[in-house]
Amino acid sequence: MEFSVKSGSPEKQRSACIVVGVFEPRRLTSIAEQLDKISEGYISNLLRRGDLEGKPGQMLLLHHVPNVLSERVLLVGCGKERELDERQYKQIIAKTINTLNETGSMEAVCFLSELHVKGRDAYWKVRHAVEATQDCLYTFDQLKSKKGETRRPLRKIVFNVPTRRELPIGERAIAEGLAVSSGSKLCKDVANMPPNICNPAYLGEQAQALATEFDKVDVELIGEEQMKELGMNSYLAVGRGSDNESIMSVINYQGGDKDTAPVVLVGKGLTFDSGGISIKPGAGMDEMKYDMGGAAGVIGTMRSLAELDLPINVIGVLAGCENMPDANAYRPGDILTTMSGQTVEVLNTDAEGRLVLCDALTYVERFNPALVIDVATLTGACVIALGAHASAVYSSHNPLAHDLTSAAEQSGDRAWRMPLWDEYQEQLESPFADMANIGGREAGSITAACFLARYTKKYTWAHMDIAGTAWKGGKNKGSTGRPVPMLTQFLLNYATEHSEQPSN
Ligand code: BES
Ligand code: MN
Ligand code: ZN
Repeated sequence: MEFSVKSGSPEKQRSACIVVGVFEPRRLTSIAEQLDKISEGYISNLLRRGDLEGKPGQMLLLHHVPNVLSERVLLVGCGKERELDERQYKQIIAKTINTLNETGSMEAVCFLSELHVKGRDAYWKVRHAVEATQDCLYTFDQLKSKKGETRRPLRKIVFNVPTRRELPIGERAIAEGLAVSSGSKLCKDVANMPPNICNPAYLGEQAQALATEFDKVDVELIGEEQMKELGMNSYLAVGRGSDNESIMSVINYQGGDKDTAPVVLVGKGLTFDSGGISIKPGAGMDEMKYDMGGAAGVIGTMRSLAELDLPINVIGVLAGCENMPDANAYRPGDILTTMSGQTVEVLNTDAEGRLVLCDALTYVERFNPALVIDVATLTGACVIALGAHASAVYSSHNPLAHDLTSAAEQSGDRAWRMPLWDEYQEQLESPFADMANIGGREAGSITAACFLARYTKKYTWAHMDIAGTAWKGGKNKGSTGRPVPMLTQFLLNYATEHSEQPSN
């Protein structure tokens, strides 16, 4: 899809379709009014006759409107003018794109980017129009033998901005929106891939493909032999029941000075989580192919970052592993010595994510990170707490927690801070080892975060539980591409604050 920005008046556009908004009840936006005027009341006449009320997402496609140069005019219901918020704006854009795609307009000029959205500027509106467009056109059909192709798909869309002054920021909004979308797409592709194809080695191949494509990206793969030498016994224990080798992919993006401390992102990459010996119930077990959603989010973010060519150093770790029951599998009752030297009594082999992450988090100490963020589909309890709307953010470092939640707010990829108080640590006590790997039914997402906190004392750290946000089930099931938008926004902000400004 090709995007551009323009500042023009609707009556001068010669396009396959021009898209304008109508508010509820039957109120023309100023752009629609201009078209109405040159068409001598053609549009207001239709509204009066009840063809369109203006409810959010309502569509009315008109052909050959008198005196209008474009072949079609798409009227889009935008709801009540004062109620137009971010969510609704994105939904309206998505619906518009679907309609354009289904009705044969291969190009369009869209004036919805001029709607007033509470508290948001032209940059935001163009960027999110781009992201919403790419998101709604996404399909995962690589593995279908017959692909459902659209006959005359939308190819080109122009978003209009009010004046020429907004053109440069509009262009930046397109570039940044495209970079975020491209990272989200990679995240979705990797996460949607079935677990018989997407195993830890596949994650490694995807990482290597990124290194081939971008000069600033290098990749190192750490297999089981090297993990053994490093003492990553807890990570190894989880993968022991699987025939697929555990592989940790370390992606290094060097956009800044060689000596600048990197930001480190660590993603849980359980390419399938059966629960192991503490096996999960059968219903919905297929969804545990998404248990590598953290790793998918990390590789997607690395892609966005590389496309944006940000002047910072970032290391992305994909902690690839598969949790299976087997004669050789680790068991409840086992006591593991983690890479940090701390011991863990395994009380449930289904609490495996933290066992993989704790060693990966110890491993990244060697990078002397500026900060570390781990991302994981860690607990069902997080889904109970926050549902599908927000990812959980944990950090005892207030500024980092703040930067993450505000990046989430900016990007529309929501996150909510949860507590990490020491009181919760007691739930992890074990009489036989330094800690147990589960903390009981209460506060399950928090005690999982508390477990990780014990391995991240040497640097500034935050944990994100994305169990509820990484994918959706049902008819339109699939990876959501989250949290690529918020992590990319975090890095964009970080780069602005930390890169050296050229002095003059
Ligand atoms: N990957 C799951 C968490 C999960 C479950 C994410 C459902 C999304 C939906 C994780 O490895 C797991 O199984 N966690 C257990 C922990 C429990 C045994 C303490 C859980 O949440 O039930
Ligand atoms: Mn599990
Ligand atoms: Zn898991």
